[in-house]
Amino acid sequence: MSSKYRVGIIGCGRIAPAHVNSFRAVEGYDLVAVADVKREAGETLCSKFGIGTLYDDYREMLQREDLDVVTVATWAGSHSEITIDAAAAGVKGILCEKPMAPSLGEAEAMLAACDRHGVKLAIGHQHRFDPSWNRGKELIAEGAIGQPLLALCKVTDGLLNNGTHFIDGIRYILGDPAPAWAMGQVERRTDRYERGEPIEDCLAGVIAFAGGAQALIEVDLPAVEDGPAWPYTFVGTQGRVELGWKDLTLISASGKQQWAFPSDESSHVRQAREYKRWLDGEIEDYRGSADKALHTVAVMMSIYESVQGRGVARFPLSTKESPLKAMLRDGRLPVEKPGKYDIRA
Ligand SMILES: NC(=O)c1ccc[n+]([C@@H]2O[C@H](COP(=O)([O-])OP(=O)(O)OC[C@H]3O[C@@H](n4cnc5c(N)ncnc54)[C@H](O)[C@@H]3O)[C@@H](O)[C@H]2O)c1
Repeated sequence: MSSKYRVGIIGCGRIAPAHVNSFRAVEGYDLVAVADVKREAGETLCSKFGIGTLYDDYREMLQREDLDVVTVATWAGSHSEITIDAAAAGVKGILCEKPMAPSLGEAEAMLAACDRHGVKLAIGHQHRFDPSWNRGKELIAEGAIGQPLLALCKVTDGLLNNGTHFIDGIRYILGDPAPAWAMGQVERRTDRYERGEPIEDCLAGVIAFAGGAQALIEVDLPAVEDGPAWPYTFVGTQGRVELGWKDLTLISASGKQQWAFPSDESSHVRQAREYKRWLDGEIEDYRGSADKALHTVAVMMSIYESVQGRGVARFPLSTKESPLKAMLRDGRLPVEKPGKYDIRA
């Protein structure tokens, strides 16, 4: 009889069902228990999916269940502490939701704990498994747009929340180049949060990568009236690729080509499948490993760091705490319209 990985999920909220479904869709996982500080959230997940064991305290689950794999599906502010506890409990793998952590220091501590305990830490940037993003990556690697110059994206609902997917995607599609420098600007006049973390009202950032490509990311900036739709675009010396969730357009000297990627399998399932191959030792390099997500956290922090340092932020970053939080604490980004609110709570 082949053995299965005993899986536990920490956090039974909105994203948890995607993980339950993907662990059940892929042979070799056995979801044995879940934990949530809110009993009602845990009970709802357990009754919907027929999960037998529920804990109020994830530490008790880690002690009792002899888990091989843990999914961390709580808000970003607790990712580091829970991941470090799970690593110390002796699991083989941890799949932590995005964003990896709200500061570089927390993300580095997660990776260090997992390295120390020999744990394979993955971050849930599941769009690395989207067929359209992968076709775009292949076309760019084949030279379809010449030398990549610029990646453009406009994102809503916070840099840490949705920006993490697109920044991670830019690096993935360009072959995971190391960031070199960043420059940005942030507006935060309202006391805005997303799942418990302070976020900007809006921001813009330019990031340069090794090899020369740059990225321009806009988060929650006002739309220009009657302006054109601005897709997730990669511009090169000889063309451009425009990426949708399920389609792709290549515009080059040979004209305009389009692809559609209708798929009934979710990228969460693909993520769980490849993650198991990494756990099994079948692949050396897993595309969603935390060392890659660490760069994504660093890029996000570099935009805040550029504001804090009033200039270019150069990599590697030395600031380990969130520069946004540091500026809020020190009153350097004063709230002008008081009234704390959370866009996702
Ligand atoms: N990959 C994606 O596309 C995607 C999509 C949605 C959410 N997410 C991420 O997933 C994470 C969770 O988001 P959500 O929307 O499911 O949040 P949610 O609020 O719906 O659920 C989080 C759950 O975690 C529980 N929790 C909090 N602290 C806990 C602790 N110490 N121990 C046990 N349980 C605890 C809460 O009670 C809650 O039930 C976030 O990091 C979010 O960014 C990722």
